[in-house]
Amino acid sequence: MTTIRFEKVSKSFGDYNAVQDLNLEIKDGEFMVFVGPSGCGKTTTLRMLAGLETPTYGRIYLDNDDVTLAAPGKRDVAMVFQSYALYPHMTVRKNLAFGPEVRGEPKAAIAKRVEQVSELVGLQSLLHRRPSELSGGQRQRVALGRAMIREPRIFLLDEPLSNLDAALRTHMRTEISELQRKLGVTTVYVTHDQVEAMTMGHRIAVFSHGRILQVDTPARLYGAPANKSVATFIGSPKMNILPARLAPGAGHVTVNCLGTVFTLPSLSLTSALPPEMIELGIRPDDIHWTKDAPSRCTEKMSGTVISLETTGSETFVIVDIQGVEVNSRFPSFVQIKIGDQVDLLFDRSDVHLFDATSGDSLRDVSSIVEMSALSHVK
Ligand SMILES: Nc1ncnc2c1ncn2[C@@H]1O[C@H](COP(=O)(O)OP(=O)(O)OP(=O)(O)O)[C@@H](O)[C@H]1O
Ligand SMILES: [Mg+2]
Repeated sequence: MTTIRFEKVSKSFGDYNAVQDLNLEIKDGEFMVFVGPSGCGKTTTLRMLAGLETPTYGRIYLDNDDVTLAAPGKRDVAMVFQSYALYPHMTVRKNLAFGPEVRGEPKAAIAKRVEQVSELVGLQSLLHRRPSELSGGQRQRVALGRAMIREPRIFLLDEPLSNLDAALRTHMRTEISELQRKLGVTTVYVTHDQVEAMTMGHRIAVFSHGRILQVDTPARLYGAPANKSVATFIGSPKMNILPARLAPGAGHVTVNCLGTVFTLPSLSLTSALPPEMIELGIRPDDIHWTKDAPSRCTEKMSGTVISLETTGSETFVIVDIQGVEVNSRFPSFVQIKIGDQVDLLFDRSDVHLFDATSGDSLRDVSSIVEMSALSHVK
């Protein structure tokens, strides 16, 4: 039963600020994912939690214990690193059993646990091999198994699936989530893969340049991103960001985006005085081909098809609208070709509005989720 709390934590290497003013609470039993581009401070934050780096400023708590300066061995943390450090002279079985043996656990219990864990990570047939006789992915599974074999206070996993092939990665993703749910151990999982983040995390902290941009559930990060960076990082293909203009009215605001004009209630904005020039965000999934659009999609944009990519189950279409490229997702059987004029339909409650300077969302995010939930029910 462990909660984790970062209070105003910063870490500098010389004059480089790798992590800045980090405040975060992770609940007991929660699966928290840190996601963000390379170099944004995910590993550094995890290493501070494990006791492998000391914060330059701030405090870290496990439950109410201040562990900011506690040695790694005193924290009861199991960590799987990006680079797995196995004992080269020991077999896989010995690598797995080593920790429990050092702790003096009963031999029969260790043997049983080694069997269980090696089955879980698919290593049963490799227990007699040494690390030098394994592939990179197999070594990573040994590292994962070694962390799983004990029941630590918290699990810290840093890109544990990065060396695995796509099929094993998907399999392990489910296995790790399932295992975490069964064990109920508070877990922090680092990845730069947003699919991994979205499918595994109870909540996700999106990092950028040493700061957390938003901490939220996968559904809210997708449906109600707090700013443009989160909006464009989560979701593939990326959210379209289009130039738009706002004009205030009585109780509403008029949005003009690439010639499409519609109104939104002022109440759905975070500011009574929003800027005139803004950016409108709309996900490719929320832009529909006329023949396939749900009835709630009443706003229309028209343009010329400049690119088509069919994957079999769907077709990604890029349409040029007044010189701006708009990405959308059409059904796979769509009968269009490059150069065609097409109408794209969307629901105004699916649009996101961003301050063009700060990137902050101008829409009251709670209302966006409610509105889209309601409009889908209609
Ligand atoms: N020991 C160190 N000395 C100097 N700079 C460091 C050190 N460790 C990390 N950094 C820098 O701090 C920043 C954050 O690094 P970190 O390893 O936390 O990134 P990350 O988000 O885990 O990235 P990746 O996805 O590539 O693993 C990087 O710019 C990195 O170069
Ligand atoms: Mg890293």
